[in-house]
Amino acid sequence: MKDSQMSDFRSLIRPEINDLPDYNAGLALDRFRATYGIDCVAKLDSNENPHGPSPRAIAAIEAAATGVARYPDAGTLALRQAIGTGYGLPAERVVMGNGSEDLIGAIFRAVLRPGDHVVTICPSFGLHEFGALACGATVSKLPFNEDWSFPIDGIVDALADKPRVLMFSSPSNPAGPAITSDGFDRILAGLDPETLFVFDEAYVEFLSDDAKFNALERLETSNLPWISLRTFSKAYGLAGVRVGYALCANEVLAKSLLKTRNPFGVNALAVVAAHEAFADVDHLEHSTRATMAERGRLYEEMTKRGYSAAPSHTNFLFFDCGESGAGFAEKLRHKGVLIKGWLEQPYENWARVTIGTPEQNNAFLNALDSLKG
Ligand SMILES: Cc1ncc(COP(=O)(O)O)c(C=O)c1O
Repeated sequence: MKDSQMSDFRSLIRPEINDLPDYNAGLALDRFRATYGIDCVAKLDSNENPHGPSPRAIAAIEAAATGVARYPDAGTLALRQAIGTGYGLPAERVVMGNGSEDLIGAIFRAVLRPGDHVVTICPSFGLHEFGALACGATVSKLPFNEDWSFPIDGIVDALADKPRVLMFSSPSNPAGPAITSDGFDRILAGLDPETLFVFDEAYVEFLSDDAKFNALERLETSNLPWISLRTFSKAYGLAGVRVGYALCANEVLAKSLLKTRNPFGVNALAVVAAHEAFADVDHLEHSTRATMAERGRLYEEMTKRGYSAAPSHTNFLFFDCGESGAGFAEKLRHKGVLIKGWLEQPYENWARVTIGTPEQNNAFLNALDSLKG
């Protein structure tokens, strides 16, 4: 047998890919049942919407199901027009993706050369780091300030070296806080046109009124290269169909993403579901308000129990478990409750819990209480 046949073929794979950790994904319900032998009472590990999508989106999926023998429109033009109109942008500056994670990869593939530098914050959404590393870039992660405000001074300093990309989420996954309007302006003032600013707004619909400002308008007037990322997976309740989008500073950036994502990456069912969900403003308003009300209650209940959680403008809370977050999450799994233990240093003692329905949140609180005996 040749040497190569005896190896595990690792040498074929690019070293930066070999070095990547496995993605810390939430656990699907069927796998939970198969592994733990009990029903899940509260799935709170993936920031999904417990109220589900607009009924109009479900009806659209059902109606489109008979047409799946055909490829979808590769250009997803009707949906891009509808979304573009919603923001006052031409369809040519909107790019749809198979979830916004697809677009994160497409952005990095479009702009990163090996050895390029990417700046993000810590703790961070994993793909902001791993997507960049996979393209051979180096990544700097700037920690939040002690009070969970965004590290604006650190970001502005890092921008002086003109990294190829600045990418972070606000409201932040996994931490929860949102950038202030002043902080945002300081970042825009510190940016050079050689740095692409990717503002990941996956949780923007959950912002409290006092933290809202018109980021898009400021980006538009900045004359800088920027991309704003949005998703239908969170507030719109469509995580399973996989659809997100990028709003781009200009058509050149948008076209580059159309080349680096898969041409038919957005499937026909996702297109019609997203179209209807985007139009159903009432459903969005209703379900985000319900989540925000529960967010306040859960924060208070956890504080009463002695858990310190970061302030949240999202549909989850990030909290200090006082022990390994992964171990803590594992204990809760045995009680039928799924949360996500964080693995990123130095937050290995933290975990993230999605805001569920009142019943699911109570199940989580009861499980917490039962751990304390
Ligand atoms: C900050 C952030 N960006 C992007 C994504 C990707 O979302 P999706 O690919 O489901 O659109 C997520 C998902 O958790 C996220 O938290």
